[in-house]
Amino acid sequence: MPFQTTFTSASDTMPLDLGSCIFASAESADVIRYLAYLALLLSVINALLSPANLRHIPTVGGPSFPFLTYRGAFNVLRDIKGVLRHGYEKYKNRTFKIAFPDRWVVVVTGKRLVDELQRLPDDAASFIQATSELTAFGYIFGQRMREDPFHVPMIGSRLTKHLTAIFGEIDEEIHAAFQDYMPDCGDEWTPVHVIDVARDVVARASNRVFVGLPVCRNPKYLDMLVHFAVDVARTRNFIVWTPAPLKTLVSKTVTNIDGRLKEGMQYLRPVIEGRTGLMKKFGDSWSDKPDDMLQWIMDEVVARNAPAEDILRNILFINFAAIHTSSNSFTFAMYHLAAIPEFIGPLREEMERVIAAEGWTKTAMGKMWRLDSFLRESQRVNSINPLAVQRMALKPVTFSDGTYIPAGTVLATPAYATHFDDENYADAAAFDPWRYVREKEQDLSPSKHQFVTLSSDYVPFGLGKHACPGRFFAANELKIMMTYVVMNYDVKFEQEGIRPENVHLGLAIMPDPKAKVLFRKRKSGEV
Ligand SMILES: *[C@@H]1O[C@H](CO)[C@@H](O)[C@H](O)[C@H]1NC(C)=O
Repeated sequence: MPFQTTFTSASDTMPLDLGSCIFASAESADVIRYLAYLALLLSVINALLSPANLRHIPTVGGPSFPFLTYRGAFNVLRDIKGVLRHGYEKYKNRTFKIAFPDRWVVVVTGKRLVDELQRLPDDAASFIQATSELTAFGYIFGQRMREDPFHVPMIGSRLTKHLTAIFGEIDEEIHAAFQDYMPDCGDEWTPVHVIDVARDVVARASNRVFVGLPVCRNPKYLDMLVHFAVDVARTRNFIVWTPAPLKTLVSKTVTNIDGRLKEGMQYLRPVIEGRTGLMKKFGDSWSDKPDDMLQWIMDEVVARNAPAEDILRNILFINFAAIHTSSNSFTFAMYHLAAIPEFIGPLREEMERVIAAEGWTKTAMGKMWRLDSFLRESQRVNSINPLAVQRMALKPVTFSDGTYIPAGTVLATPAYATHFDDENYADAAAFDPWRYVREKEQDLSPSKHQFVTLSSDYVPFGLGKHACPGRFFAANELKIMMTYVVMNYDVKFEQEGIRPENVHLGLAIMPDPKAKVLFRKRKSGEV
């Protein structure tokens, strides 16, 4: 019962012990029901109070009559993919709106309008405001993270520029982590809970880069990060159902951010205090100052005169962003591989050939076209986030088809409907892992078809200048992980050819968290 654990620990730090008052004896199902009733009531009130200025945009997924919007919101949270597909089919190249319990989201479709959406300048539309509305991260991580998201350029430019330099460390940590976390599979087929292993491996490898050795190997630190990431992902669904005045309380109760900040500080205090001392002593003339994520964050926090706990806040935030997304992406891809093990041969052949020539290097990862294509295809058919390219209009916007968008509206484009549109992809419903290898071979600029390449028909990383800044880092991590597994193991599912269905968790779509993949040590030399 993950909820129980969190609530118990939350009660240690909550002054009023409200967490345990409300939830102590409740099963998580009761908690959800309680919040659902509360939300129901609130959504009716919300709907009555909400401005009527979106009436000209058609509603999909439920009635738009104020009293009944909650029915649409239920449909959206139960099957957001289906509701978006329905809207896309009906209103392609136009806009429609869907109901959330606490707001409308206007969905923009078709290449032309989506291009207009991603090109909206920052004074007209805000990415961070929209994401904060839809994921509640401002409530969870604190409003300062929303107002001053300084980690974004840090990841987008500094970390990405450092990738060649730090590749060896990431690679070493992934190998070591798999050796520690994979069960001993000899010649026997051994069931492995891929999502758990993936979270641990991603957490450890990412923290090798974020905070370095030895903290990145501290099992308690990693365990805290993984639990926190899972709690945050779940909280987002709680928050949309929670009335605005209670959102802060509920998000704190469910994720226990204050407790996590304290706990994280325990593990990082020696490093942070050591560095703070040296920063004070040497200032700008500190000659061997570390050049890593922790130091970049510390420098920014000092420059802003922000409290030291903001260092941890940022570490927690980037960990949430890294762990949850990459471990899910890896699991999505592994499930495809295990469902159709014939894909292993071509991948393995390429990996052996490229690694033999280039070693375990960033250059090698760049040359594995099949692996890159496999990951892009997996991400096309399994997007964690069904609503991509999120923006909030800061002032009124009119699209070229004449659609008027009032200020305050949250806009997004549907990932699945776009990715499964036969006008965008030949045989879009099929999982075709070598799709982009063929496209690369036929194109003079192969880089247009990479895993990390953005295009209006491939939106899992968003589009434009607010696209996911961590995608280059994540791509390298994922490629090393896939290469390690494929070169060392055979994989399959118990029932061959059947891939477990993805799970809808409100706004997020995840790989089946219960499925287990069978692993067997690969016989050496076998391709
Ligand atoms: C949408 O627009 C594209 C051009 O961008 C066009 O090829 C397509 O036929 C349009 N589809 C619909 C359903 O209007």
